[in-house]
Amino acid sequence: MKERVEKGIVLAGGNGSRLWPLTLTLSKQLLPIFDKPMIFYPISVLMLAGIRDLLIISQSCNLPHYKALLGDGSDIGVHFTYAAQDRPRGLADALLVGRDFIGNDPVAMILGDNVLYGQGLTRLLADAARKSSGATVFAYRVPNPEEFGVVELDGAGRPVRIEEKPVRARSNLALIGLYFYDNEALVLAERLKPSARGELEITDLNRIYLEHRRLRVTVLGRGIAWLDTGTFNSLLDASNYIATLERRQNLKVACLEEIAWRNDWIDDRQFELCARRWGNGEYGRYLLRTRQMEEGGDLASD
Ligand code: DAU
Repeated sequence: MKERVEKGIVLAGGNGSRLWPLTLTLSKQLLPIFDKPMIFYPISVLMLAGIRDLLIISQSCNLPHYKALLGDGSDIGVHFTYAAQDRPRGLADALLVGRDFIGNDPVAMILGDNVLYGQGLTRLLADAARKSSGATVFAYRVPNPEEFGVVELDGAGRPVRIEEKPVRARSNLALIGLYFYDNEALVLAERLKPSARGELEITDLNRIYLEHRRLRVTVLGRGIAWLDTGTFNSLLDASNYIATLERRQNLKVACLEEIAWRNDWIDDRQFELCARRWGNGEYGRYLLRTRQMEEGGDLASD
């Protein structure tokens, strides 16, 4: 068993019905968030956690698109594998779909529509990845907790209760779609029973960890943005948010090639090859410019 979390699952299934007709023929997690497909954002989160072994789960009909977009990952120093989940049987079901991939190791999982950005995030992620026993989940203060998994903490910040979409929430702390588990999660997920909505609920799995006092909750502060992409408006807001940030800072959010290069997973030459893959478009030119500016000592690395 690995001492730290080195494997990650990106769950990009579901039928995206809340965004029809946008998602009738296109997987939701391939929709654009400003200048890149949505799935780049959750992949970037796992890469920032130091995770290079990644399993992408989606419906069989959508997997060819993800493979065409991401390949085997060798160009950016990671390893992508793919698995099908043809019916949305729940978030905890992804662990069962990924059983062979997980093997005897701890694993992280992120929902393919979760966008996270902010100062200090990399450190929080790296901290979570260093723990190979128990589970780590992340909470975020929201005005509408009833729409999420909700966690209640005691005075010392320990979790005392979690509920999935409660009618009346006891706290405003929503659990975001990012989870770090030890290998026991596999056995526990196998024992889960489907909920009233017919899904293996991730909240039920997290509740078992809580009851065993093995659930850590990291509350994300106001310096970190967790963006929703579930409605037409929130999709547009997320795009506008990323566009504003990128234009203002002249830096890209969730640029996978740049993260791989800064992590030293690829060298300068490979970084340049990645840039050329995108031709003369804005994204490719950003990569070339980033490398040149860094050579000139012009760019902060954070
Ligand atoms: O986003 C955070 C929330 O995600 C958590 O607070 C909740 O505890 C958790 O249950 C989940 O709630 P949602 O109701 O938002 O999950 P939803 O069914 O919308 O699925 C989230 C994403 O995962 C969505 O992009 C589709 C994908 N998905 C979902 C299911 C149920 C799959 O790929 N496979 C599935 O089986």
